[in-house]
Amino acid sequence: MAGEKEKVCVTGAGGFAASWVVNLLLSKDYVVHGTVRQPGESKYAHLNKLEKASENLKLFKADLLDYDSLRSAFEGCSGVFHVASPAVLSVTDPDQELLEPAVKGTLNVLKACVEAKVKRVVVVSSIAAIVMNPDWPKGQVKDETCWSVPEYIKTMKKWYYLSKTEPESQALEFGKRNELEVVTVCPSVVLGPILQSTLNLSSSLLVGTIKGGLESLEYNYWTLVDVRDLAEALLLVYNKSEAGERYICTSHEIGAEEVVEKYLRPAYPNYNYPNNLTHTEEEKEHLSSKKLQRLGWTFRPVDETLIDSIESYRTAGIVD
Ligand SMILES: NC(=O)c1ccc[n+]([C@@H]2O[C@H](COP(=O)([O-])OP(=O)(O)OC[C@H]3O[C@@H](n4cnc5c(N)ncnc54)[C@H](OP(=O)(O)O)[C@@H]3O)[C@@H](O)[C@H]2O)c1
Repeated sequence: MAGEKEKVCVTGAGGFAASWVVNLLLSKDYVVHGTVRQPGESKYAHLNKLEKASENLKLFKADLLDYDSLRSAFEGCSGVFHVASPAVLSVTDPDQELLEPAVKGTLNVLKACVEAKVKRVVVVSSIAAIVMNPDWPKGQVKDETCWSVPEYIKTMKKWYYLSKTEPESQALEFGKRNELEVVTVCPSVVLGPILQSTLNLSSSLLVGTIKGGLESLEYNYWTLVDVRDLAEALLLVYNKSEAGERYICTSHEIGAEEVVEKYLRPAYPNYNYPNNLTHTEEEKEHLSSKKLQRLGWTFRPVDETLIDSIESYRTAGIVD
C-alpha cells in the first residue's frame, strides 16, 4: 500500500550492536520487530526509550533454537537483520553454548525467513570467519575471498571462530539454493557507546584498559569498527548490495599503546592503564573494507569512537 512503512526484524534486539541497528532503523521510519529472549527484563529497558519506539518498535519473545518463535516475529517483514549469536570466547561446552545457537539458530532464522516470505536477510558474521586461514599469503591484506578454515579452527579449539564461520558459509549457500537474498557482514572488534545497561564482551576490552588492575591486555593490537558505523553498514548492504555478497566491516588498525598514549591518557589522565601494551608483529591483522566503501560506506575517526565509548560507560556507571 502506498505510504505504508517497511517492516523489518532485528534478532537479539537488546544486544550491543543490535540496539544501534534498531535505533537506526527507527530513525529511518522502519517499523521494527525486535526479538528478545526474556521480554520484560530490565536489560531491554533502553529499547523502549529509543525515539519512535512507542509507535514503531514491537518486541517478540524468541530464541534462536525455537523455530516457531522466530517465524512469528518475522510475520509481515520484508527484511531481517540477523544479529543474535552467543558472543562469548570462553565456554565449557562449545556445542551447547556456542555452536548450536549459532549454526542451528541461523538455519532456523533462514528457514523462517523463507516461510514468512522475507525477501532479504543481512547476517552479522565476524572477521572471526575470515582471519583463521593459515594458507593466506603472509602480509597480504585479507579481503572477502579469505575464509577461516574450519579444520584449522578445530585444531586450535577457537570455538567462537567456528561459531561464526559455519553459519556464515551455510547462510550464503542457503541463499543460493532458496528464494532468499542473503548478504553477510563481517565486523572487526566493535566499540563505541553502549545503549544497553550491561557490558558486552567487546566493550569490556576498553573497560579493561581504563579500569585498572590489569598488567597487560589480552589483545595489544586492535582491529576495530564503531558500532554506529556498523549499523550504517548493515542498512547500506540491506538497501544497496547484490544478493549473495560478503562484506568486511572494519575501520581502524591500531596498537593498544597508541590507543592509550595518543587518545586516552590525554583525555583521562587519572585512569589506571595497564603497563604492558606493546604488540608483536604477529598480533597485527590487515583487513580491507574497500568493498563496503565502494557501496558508499564511510566511518568516523577512532578518537570519536574511543571517547564516546568511555563517556557512555561513565553515564552507565560502569566506570567512574
Ligand atoms: N562485538 C564485537 O566485537 C563483534 C565483532 C564481530 C561480530 N560480532 C557479532 O555481532 C553480533 C552482536 O554481538 P554484540 O557484540 O552486540 O553481542 P551482545 O551484546 O552479547 O549481543 C548478543 C545477542 O545475541 C542474543 N542471543 C544469544 N544467544 C541467543 C539465543 N540462543 N537466542 C536468541 N538470542 C540469542 C543475545 O540475546 P539476549 O539479550 O536475550 O541475551 C544478545 O541480544 C553477534 O552475532 C556477534 O558474533 C560482534
